[in-house]
Amino acid sequence: MNAEISTPADASAPAAELAQRLSATPRGARLARRLTAQQLATWGYPHDGDPNDTAQHLVAELAANAVTHGRVPGRDFELRLRLLPEDTLRIEVSDARGDRGPRQVTEPDGEGGRGLILVTLLADTWGVTERGVGKTVWAELALGRPAGPCPV
Ligand SMILES: Nc1ncnc2c1ncn2[C@@H]1O[C@H](COP(=O)(O)OP(=O)(O)O)[C@@H](O)[C@H]1O
Ligand SMILES: [Mg+2]
Repeated sequence: MNAEISTPADASAPAAELAQRLSATPRGARLARRLTAQQLATWGYPHDGDPNDTAQHLVAELAANAVTHGRVPGRDFELRLRLLPEDTLRIEVSDARGDRGPRQVTEPDGEGGRGLILVTLLADTWGVTERGVGKTVWAELALGRPAGPCPV
């Protein structure tokens, strides 16, 4: 039996996953958002629905940060989407920059700092974990029951 497609023995294991390396460019960030829309539709959350829309916003903010603040020249970033039990989406955006991470922007009239406020408002929870090279900024979102598989 192929281990890749075997049913997970552990009930807490993710039901499904997408992992994609992308160039650390605005184009890569746009692609991350588009892949998210497609993957959510495949999991039963149509393009025009709120869960898909919210997931796209979260990925767009995290990917934009990865390609601006987390970018190391010549290094890709990675998008990982996991469908966890109880219809929770886990988004992971990993970049190569380990010496800097998300921070609160305090300048009251500043242009920046809205991305992570949006992430805080939209996600149920989010955080940062270190990795061998760089870091992962993750967010989790309760999607509700899927409508069933739909065309992408
Ligand atoms: N992936 C990241 N790598 C390094 N620094 C980050 C990352 N994401 C966010 N930051 C830091 O956190 C700050 C706040 O992020 P955000 O709220 O998205 O504001 P903005 O992107 O507009 O500056 C950024 O200005 C940056 O300093
Ligand atoms: Mg930002």
